[in-house]
Amino acid sequence: MAERDPGLDGGEIDWAATRRENARAIDRRMVDLIASKTTDMADGPLPLHKSVYIDEPRFAAEREKLFLSEPLVAGLSGDIPEPGDILLFDAAGPSILVMRGRDGSARAFLNMCTHRGARLVEESEPWSGNAKRLACPFHAWTFDNQGALIGQPGKAGFAGCDIGARDLVEVPCAEHLGLLLVRADPDGDPIDAAAHLGDFAPVLEQLELHRAVPVKRGILKADSNWKFALDTYGEGYHFKTLHASTIGQTHYNDICVFEPVGRHHRVGFPDLSVGKNVGKDEADWPETDYGGVHFLFPNTVIFFGSLTPGVFFTQVFRLFPDGVGKTRCQFAVYAPFGIIDEEYRATCETAYDATAKVVQTEDYRVAAAGYANLLTAPDDFHVVLGANEIALQAVHRHIAETIGMPLPTERS
Ligand code: FES
Ligand SMILES: [Fe+2]
Repeated sequence: MAERDPGLDGGEIDWAATRRENARAIDRRMVDLIASKTTDMADGPLPLHKSVYIDEPRFAAEREKLFLSEPLVAGLSGDIPEPGDILLFDAAGPSILVMRGRDGSARAFLNMCTHRGARLVEESEPWSGNAKRLACPFHAWTFDNQGALIGQPGKAGFAGCDIGARDLVEVPCAEHLGLLLVRADPDGDPIDAAAHLGDFAPVLEQLELHRAVPVKRGILKADSNWKFALDTYGEGYHFKTLHASTIGQTHYNDICVFEPVGRHHRVGFPDLSVGKNVGKDEADWPETDYGGVHFLFPNTVIFFGSLTPGVFFTQVFRLFPDGVGKTRCQFAVYAPFGIIDEEYRATCETAYDATAKVVQTEDYRVAAAGYANLLTAPDDFHVVLGANEIALQAVHRHIAETIGMPLPTERS
């Protein structure tokens, strides 16, 4: 099929070698931190008044300025590889269909019939499918996979109606570097994906997300503000305690390489094997493919790594609010370079199940209980993000900036 993602240059870059060089660069930073028994740090701790998480007006501003205004990751190219493929994207607010047209381009439309507004796809997320045309379940108006109205039973009844062609209502959408970006507002500006990613584009590009094939998708839920849940992805300070039987066994606690790129960032958490490189000549370090944890503003976390050497997987978490105290996380595991065989598929499914269990029963457990506590905490209660929780500080500052509401800290 023709190249369809303008972000891909189709050049002859050896991405595997690029990833190894990149992993080595992260290794250097991690080895330095392990050797000096420290972590990347902010200038100081950041107290945050509890209203950051529980305040309704603040949440309304986030919904409007982030979830209805910012480009959001609706999925990866591999979620709709073929013409006619459709991905349902409900989580930002309006129900949206991302569809690959017969011309190979991805477009997004409101999941809304232009007759009287019925939902065309009545399923709920996660859902994807394929159709040459979409027929409305109400009176059977029909649309093609590029949004054009192509069938209207009882057409005579609508003769002389001059309020537009009645094609589906398009929503800004861009496909770039394997990301399907959507702005969940039909009145919003077109998406400039390159501008949105900025210097983060080369960091993401090496992951070759356009090659990723979905293996398993699902939804994780937390009775917590979405930022409280999101905070759990950005620090390794909780590994030893909260994840004592999993990542706490395999990774250093409270050591984090933080690389901010505009409003996005990448964090790296060293596993114990990295410590063996301390004091060794770099030429003797083993090669790794550690890709780190990528945060794409405002709500997406992409992890690229290997389960065992050479067995790769990509995990994508997208966090959305279902209300000020409800989080819906769209979690998906992809095979970065295709599903090689059934054993590999099973391995990726296991990676999904194991991760979903830890996130749901450990991270989101404390998020929900912590959120409930904030609701009844004293009026002047502040949580505090340590200097070692540097990525969280950055995310909160960028959110505050984007919604135009200063962070309520003790200093403000
Ligand atoms: S609302 Fe869709 S055909 Fe009537
Ligand atoms: Fe965690």
